[in-house]
Amino acid sequence: MELRIGVIGTGAIGTEHIERIANKLSGAKVTVVTDVDKPRAEKAAAVCGARIEKDGTGVIASSDVDAVMVTNWGPAHAKSILGSIAAGKMVFCEKPMTTTGADAKKIVDAEIAKGKKFTQVGFMRRYDKGYLQMKEILSSGKTGKPLMIHCAHRNVAKGTEYNTPMSVNDTAIHEIDVLHWLVGDQYVSAQVLFPKQTSLTHKDLRDPQIMILTTESGILIEIEVFVNCQFGYDIKCEVVCERASVELPLASFPSVKQDAKYYTALETDWKYRFIDSYDVEIQDWINNASKGIVKGPSAWDGYLAAVTADALVKAQGSGKIESIATGPCPDFYSC
Ligand code: NAI
Repeated sequence: MELRIGVIGTGAIGTEHIERIANKLSGAKVTVVTDVDKPRAEKAAAVCGARIEKDGTGVIASSDVDAVMVTNWGPAHAKSILGSIAAGKMVFCEKPMTTTGADAKKIVDAEIAKGKKFTQVGFMRRYDKGYLQMKEILSSGKTGKPLMIHCAHRNVAKGTEYNTPMSVNDTAIHEIDVLHWLVGDQYVSAQVLFPKQTSLTHKDLRDPQIMILTTESGILIEIEVFVNCQFGYDIKCEVVCERASVELPLASFPSVKQDAKYYTALETDWKYRFIDSYDVEIQDWINNASKGIVKGPSAWDGYLAAVTADALVKAQGSGKIESIATGPCPDFYSC
């Protein structure tokens, strides 16, 4: 039987996921949608033949919804996830799971109280072929121990609604999740440096930024976040180890030689850079949610990311090195 999904938030990624469920993936259909912007909900409903509910609470309570997909704005995620857990429904939530560690803790506590995992977080880089290949190489024992990680997360441009804390909660949150998973370590401290500012930003956004994280074993991680770089959507990750350096492959485009030039294209949009990993991620969620289990990034992963993000946002304001204290992983999550 097909998993009947209710979608809360039919903006950019909500519509992308609805289209992939309708046209590419198997085992599920979207039956109900909602958005505070009604015309958006109507447009998305037309793609998949869903009906429209007036709000997220209505979606979660619907008898024709088995599982919930939360793709609205970050600050609204916690309410829909907690509502889904209370209703006993499996839930997929786009990143960030929550925009504060305190809200993330409420979700972890709610799952433990119910004795069941319900939440998968949209950290799709764990499904990306390039990162999976890196993890395999790093786990082989041949590279020696990881010592340093150099990353960049560059977007072409952001609008004036995007501000300094969003560089952490909306952008670097991907690196925060994928890097500790990649090297099997936990973060202990966070710091943010502000280089010379681009003239192409606005008053509420410091751009670019260098975020520095250290791990329990002493790995030093440096993430450049530059969201108005103008030239492309550019994701870089290099793990420098004792005996090797392991680097994320670039998105694959042909090399072109023409007019005395030798060049390759760059991606400009997140939708296409990780398109395959979104497909694998959502299919995996459908398969597991249909059985009532979570195998992908869990509420605990969402919590670790939220606590780390809290420390980075604090460091943006203080200019100091801030500590990251997540506490031990509960047995319930078997980390
Ligand atoms: P968007 O602004 O295009 O869409 C958000 C939608 O949610 C809007 O249509 C808005 O009207 C609606 N909305 C806001 N509050 C609501 C509420 N309480 N109930 C119902 N609808 C509500 O934003 P976008 O880019 O689609 O991002 C949505 C989420 O997905 C964000 O958390 C973002 O960080 C995440 N995201 C994840 C990506 C990834 O690579 N995994 C890529 C892009 C976004």
